[in-house]
Amino acid sequence: MSQLTGQPIFILKEGSSRTRGRDAQGSNIAAAKAVAGAVRTTLGPKGMDKMLVDTIGDVVITNDGVTILKEMDIEHPAAKMMVEVAKTQDDEVGDGTTTAVVVAGELLKRAEELLDQDVHPTVIAQGYRLAAEKAREILNDIAIEVKPTNKEMLYKIAETAMTGKGAEASKEKLCELVVKAAMMVVDEDGTVDMENIKVEKKVGGSSDDSEIVEGVLIDKERVHPGMPRKVENAKILLLNASIEFKKTEVDAEINITSPDQLQAFLDEEERMIKSIVDKVVASGANVVICQKGIDDIAQHYLAKAGVLALRRVKKSDMEKLARATGGSVVSSIDAIAKSELGHAGLVEERKVGGEEMIFVEKCKNPKAVSIIVRGGTEHVVDELERALDDAISVVSVVMEDKKMVAGGGAPEIELSKRLREYAASVGGRAQLAIEAFSNALEIIPRTLAENAGLDPIDMLVALRAEHDKKRMNVGLDVFKGAPTDMLKAGVVEPLRVKTQAVASAAEAAVMILRIDDVIAASKVAGGAPPMGPGGMPPGGMGGMGGDMGDF
Ligand SMILES: Nc1ncnc2c1ncn2[C@@H]1O[C@H](COP(=O)(O)OP(=O)(O)OP(=O)(O)O)[C@@H](O)[C@H]1O
Ligand SMILES: [Mg+2]
Repeated sequence: MSQLTGQPIFILKEGSSRTRGRDAQGSNIAAAKAVAGAVRTTLGPKGMDKMLVDTIGDVVITNDGVTILKEMDIEHPAAKMMVEVAKTQDDEVGDGTTTAVVVAGELLKRAEELLDQDVHPTVIAQGYRLAAEKAREILNDIAIEVKPTNKEMLYKIAETAMTGKGAEASKEKLCELVVKAAMMVVDEDGTVDMENIKVEKKVGGSSDDSEIVEGVLIDKERVHPGMPRKVENAKILLLNASIEFKKTEVDAEINITSPDQLQAFLDEEERMIKSIVDKVVASGANVVICQKGIDDIAQHYLAKAGVLALRRVKKSDMEKLARATGGSVVSSIDAIAKSELGHAGLVEERKVGGEEMIFVEKCKNPKAVSIIVRGGTEHVVDELERALDDAISVVSVVMEDKKMVAGGGAPEIELSKRLREYAASVGGRAQLAIEAFSNALEIIPRTLAENAGLDPIDMLVALRAEHDKKRMNVGLDVFKGAPTDMLKAGVVEPLRVKTQAVASAAEAAVMILRIDDVIAASKVAGGAPPMGPGGMPPGGMGGMGGDMGDF
């Protein structure tokens, strides 16, 4: 405060807002808690779904934490950090996004209680860091080995990831597809490249009609009806250049003065296109997959030459095709050569759900598979795809790490118990923070119970009692409504889901806690109206609080 003259000193631009100290912490924590609160009800098999409607009225119905947060269009800066937690979790493991956000929210809630007791934020931050480090050790300690060839267990891991999502009804079928696909694409060193599994949506039929195709599936049809529907022993040209008459780079005008000249011009155009097609045919290609356009005349000549051609194929599909067929994507007509071609045993156009799709099968690299997801409506198919993505990720993660933990809140209860013991050994003020961390983890079993309509306190007490008896895989079976050995019940998750969730939740909480000053520039459009001269109360120093609290 400028007490000498009573004159306010402005160091920020007009319209900037500044929140400091406990106000800043309070508003950040409130925002983060609000985000966690928004996804909390979706946690677990009995969690509910959310319907999100965007500004143009598009509807998304989902149970997936990260999807909800991405669709929510969040603006508050601290709330955005929570969205990042979900995104990181999604990128690293693909599942457990709700868990990560809910834990982060609870960590901050517990930290707030400590702040109220005048524990300094850096002490809490330090305690949380110690706890997170210890939590990783404990999780590694309680992890259970799983062989990547153990189909039954992989199936259960996929099943756990899918329970509670829209995919529930046909999860047997879908889990089977996921495990089969993962087994097909796994490398000798045990890694699974998810890029090799392509999920293709097709509205219609029921989710039970979903199937697996050994190869790549492209949602396109051949460009000309005169082209063959089926090509065996296909030599595939992957082209990232258009088969069209070359347009000049600069604006050019061609003056034609007589009909003869026009005819000559058209003939020349046709001749040029034909020469491109001849080049394609000469390379030995009998299938052309083009990322750009194919001219009508070119389509005609290609059809005449018996070549099956597709145009405007997505870049991601081109990359998958290159990997699957062993060909390379050629980006200029001049570079077309035999050595660039890819190979597939069969390229065929077949009907799926009343629409034509191209199947590229019996590829050179057998490690390319596609899953066709079917479902009654677009919303169903979209949610099935998200559930499948989760399941594919967890199965690949487990195949890589070969480690899993029991589900249903079992690891969280065990972590909480052991962290409490650890806190006692640390002592000092950090002990309070570690205890807060330990209590915060119980939010997972508590929320699972709440969402299933069970009494959270009763359940927690019962679970703790079981863990005190060294039954560390006991979690909450929300269907039975009682503590159960989740490993025996077949509810299992990859270890990485938990380690990543705890790590990123702790990091985000620590980061938010350490902020004691929020300086926000004024918005360019529709921001706070600039204050006129003398608009500040005397004695103020640009520290205007209050407008950060809305989220
Ligand atoms: N049959 C079950 N009984 C009890 N708990 C279960 C069962 N199946 C799954 N769970 C638990 O539900 C939790 C996962 O719920 P959910 O899939 O809704 O959220 P998430 O995985 O954290 O986030 P998201 O899937 O949205 O990315 C895990 O703690 C898991 O152990
Ligand atoms: Mg999940």
